[in-house]
Amino acid sequence: MKRIVLFASGSGSNVENIIHYFQNNANVTVTTVLTNKRDAKVLDRCNRLGISSLCFNRTAFYSTDCILEVLKSLEPDLIVLAGFLWKIPTNLVKNFPNKIINIHPALLPKYGGKGMYGMNVHRAVKESKDQETGITIHYVNENYDEGAIIHQAKTKIEPADSPETIAKKIHELEYKYFPLIIDQLLTDS
Ligand code: GAR
Repeated sequence: MKRIVLFASGSGSNVENIIHYFQNNANVTVTTVLTNKRDAKVLDRCNRLGISSLCFNRTAFYSTDCILEVLKSLEPDLIVLAGFLWKIPTNLVKNFPNKIINIHPALLPKYGGKGMYGMNVHRAVKESKDQETGITIHYVNENYDEGAIIHQAKTKIEPADSPETIAKKIHELEYKYFPLIIDQLLTDS
């Protein structure tokens, strides 16, 4: 059985989509969802879906090996950041080489880096007058949004699009491709 651990900071609609995608798969299981926000909506989703969740604070994450020990005990084949907004500390990157992936709501290397998440990205894309945007699924290293790219998918931006409609298009791409890429990585591992 292949094991996925998810990290999320907010709504968790990607988390829910990934859980649904694998729920009838006898070879893959989502074991736990970790979050840095006590009131994140993703926790309600986990309760509703019967998935274990764990909330941690900044000190535990950056100044102790607490989360490293939790992850080691969960023995994940893949650690998936699905809307997780904190930088991953070195101890985790070093202990799980090529096992941590992230989804970014733009075509990296554009619109990445600190502060570039969620609607901030879509507002910057709208202001840029770019004619396309998309998603990037990539390995995680110690720097925000800089690990090797695994997959990108694009969507057109129409003049009438707003940051909100761009966000909707991006979520559709994420729901379609993120579980497929996770599935593929687990099959190849
Ligand atoms: C997703 O669009 C994801 O790409 C983005 O946050 C959203 C989370 O939505 N991640 C980042 O911006 C990371 N820099 P969700 O909570 O509904 O899944």
